[in-house]
Amino acid sequence: MKTLSFALISAGAAALVIPALAQTQLPNGTGKQIVETQCTVCHEALRITNAGHTREEWDNVVHNMIMMGAVLKPEQISVVTNYLASNFPPKAKSKSSTRSSRRTSMPSRCRRTIPMRSFRC
Ligand code: HEC
Repeated sequence: MKTLSFALISAGAAALVIPALAQTQLPNGTGKQIVETQCTVCHEALRITNAGHTREEWDNVVHNMIMMGAVLKPEQISVVTNYLASNFPPKAKSKSSTRSSRRTSMPSRCRRTIPMRSFRC
């Protein structure tokens, strides 16, 4: 029985380590620190780095998060929105603007979801 419970404990430890590593993935830039401290209170940064939005959408997301309880000073809102909009643009559009190169293997709403959880797509 000892080996079995040891195996269970190490599996549990591994599950804790993975999300902790995922939090260090925010790219450098003005606003990173605000996002790092204020936006990872309720969910991991992966939730943000996995998302891709236009500036208007990020503006919406940030305001939604504030309504949910994110603590941002009024002057931090545009800093955070700028940071997110320039680092996490919509994923469907590639930067070289080749619109026809859209990958269609997966519905777009599946692509945005967190790979660790199994959402129904
Ligand atoms: C008070 C808790 C809280 C804080 C602080 C918070 N969030 Fe969220 N966030 C949530 C919850 C809850 C959801 C899930 C909402 C849902 O799935 O409808 C979410 C979902 C998200 C999503 C996924 C939704 C989407 O449309 O892609 C993004 C991106 C996100 N948050 C970004 C941020 C950013 C950026 C900040 C910092 C400005 C932030 N969050 C701070 C609670 C919070």
